[in-house]
Amino acid sequence: MLIAPSILSANFLDLGSEVRSICDGGCDYVHIDIMDGHFVPNLTIGPLVVKEVAKISSKPLDIHLMVENVSFFVDMFAPIKPEFMSVHIEEVKHLNRLISHIRNSGIRPGVVLNPHTSEEALKYIIEDVDMVLLMSVNPGFGGQKFIPNIYKKIQNLKDMIFAKNPNCLIEVDGGVNDKNIDLLKQSGADIVVAGNYIFSSDDYQKAILSLR
Ligand code: DX5
Ligand code: ZN
Repeated sequence: MLIAPSILSANFLDLGSEVRSICDGGCDYVHIDIMDGHFVPNLTIGPLVVKEVAKISSKPLDIHLMVENVSFFVDMFAPIKPEFMSVHIEEVKHLNRLISHIRNSGIRPGVVLNPHTSEEALKYIIEDVDMVLLMSVNPGFGGQKFIPNIYKKIQNLKDMIFAKNPNCLIEVDGGVNDKNIDLLKQSGADIVVAGNYIFSSDDYQKAILSLR
């Protein structure tokens, strides 16, 4: 299982050492939640901060855009060259065009589904993305309760991926911990995002290992 700690739950007054600790602790990606106060009722960080994180991170960045006016934000963060950039399917009018634009910027594109959005919505885009990010909480905040209907959704998506784009990764985001990780893996998840579980522990390396 690949592990992407979400820095949303990190100590922002000490962000540099928090990022170094999760990288040294063996994470695979650094998950960065960008929120605009419109698509979700919370605001996080902009490109100035993310650029500094990119400089000191020894692991690739995984940017999750929870914003309106999505293409504007794609262009704002693209120069930072994260490994992945994922956009919410609920918010994008011309998804095919935007996914191509992300790829042509040298970034691996992902698409995100809110908990209520059916995996059927991916039918005509799955071949064009490198990752599907399934939300297992309503986006906006760290530390929320996991919504268990995700297991079935992962399995359905796995079938679609197997048939249409076997290299596409499934990432699960929200409320992931040592209790639900086994079933997430069995269902077919490749990457998990974990914020609260990792950053509320005393030992990030141990927390990352326990999930893996
Ligand atoms: C929620 C964010 C998540 C969140 C995960 O909107 O997309 O990445 O930070 O945090 P936990 O693991 O605490 O639910
Ligand atoms: Zn996220």
